[in-house]
Amino acid sequence: MLYAGKWDRAGLDYQALKNQWHVVARADEVSAERPKAVRLLGEELVLWRDGAGQIHAWKDYCGHRGAKLSLGCVKKGEIECPYHGWRFDAGGQCTRVPAHPDQATPSSARLIFRHHAAERYGLIWASLDAPRRPLPVFPEWEDDSFRKVFAGPYRYMGNALRSVENFLDASHFPFVHANLNGDPDAPEPLPDYQVFKDEHGLRTSEISVFQPYGDHRGIPVTARYTYSVFNPTTAYFVKKTGDTERFCTFLNATPVDEAECVIWLIVAINFGADLSEEKILYRQDMVFEQDRLIVESQRPARLPLDIQQEMHVRSDRLGIEYRRWIKELGLRADAPNHAEPRAAALLN
Ligand code: FES
Ligand code: CO
Repeated sequence: MLYAGKWDRAGLDYQALKNQWHVVARADEVSAERPKAVRLLGEELVLWRDGAGQIHAWKDYCGHRGAKLSLGCVKKGEIECPYHGWRFDAGGQCTRVPAHPDQATPSSARLIFRHHAAERYGLIWASLDAPRRPLPVFPEWEDDSFRKVFAGPYRYMGNALRSVENFLDASHFPFVHANLNGDPDAPEPLPDYQVFKDEHGLRTSEISVFQPYGDHRGIPVTARYTYSVFNPTTAYFVKKTGDTERFCTFLNATPVDEAECVIWLIVAINFGADLSEEKILYRQDMVFEQDRLIVESQRPARLPLDIQQEMHVRSDRLGIEYRRWIKELGLRADAPNHAEPRAAALLN
């Protein structure tokens, strides 16, 4: 079945994803006055900023009569429900019931459900449960010799993990990105590579790929790709050309639901000062549109974590390790949360 509907919460993929950070919006999409509705792993969330500008991610729900808080507004640093005007402070405490101003306000238990929120790299991040891993590191973010370009977001009616695996797959270039990243009539074999695993996630050795139709500048290049996976939904590559040229891509695929995702992309580039942002975006938009058709066609929609399913060859090594790693994270999801104190320090 292509569309399996809502996440099966007992599934290992859901278990691996519920307590990790996901990108849910661009930072400038959440203003001081307006809350924003987003969806993550089948849950409806409201994002809003308190008086100090700190971001919050709550269930999009007011326990008085169940209205959506995202339809309300933010006043004096508190979120106001659209239905009866009850207000809640940053801690989730009800501070005002306009119909009964003289009565004590009700306790917030069962009224408000708070998730975890953070802001970094110009993006808003949310985690449904206490995050077990810190916010992913984007190595070039602080490095001024790299120009940053935000691409997307790209919405796929496909599974987030399938889309990340697609991003990590170098042997599809000549076919899906024919005449852009390779030649379907003369595809280059993919050289063998290694995959390493440590506490930061997965990383490959360099993979050389000849791009006959050129890079963003239209210059044919042999590019050396190094892929990393920081989270099941956060992947990254450095594409090296020449001695010093680096084209880096930081990708986050947000699972809206089991068969829908939003891909947030930041490109960091240290060459081609004359290369316009439009040109970079034009190519990214084209590549992600080509990938979209494939990822949306994959079935089952969910990424099979059982290695016995589907068929693998040597060039799929990264995909295999990726599936194994997600399964492992899902199995560990019920173990005591040793990483929590470190991750909690990143919370607002
Ligand atoms: Fe929120 Fe009544 S439903 S105040
Ligand atoms: Co692709």
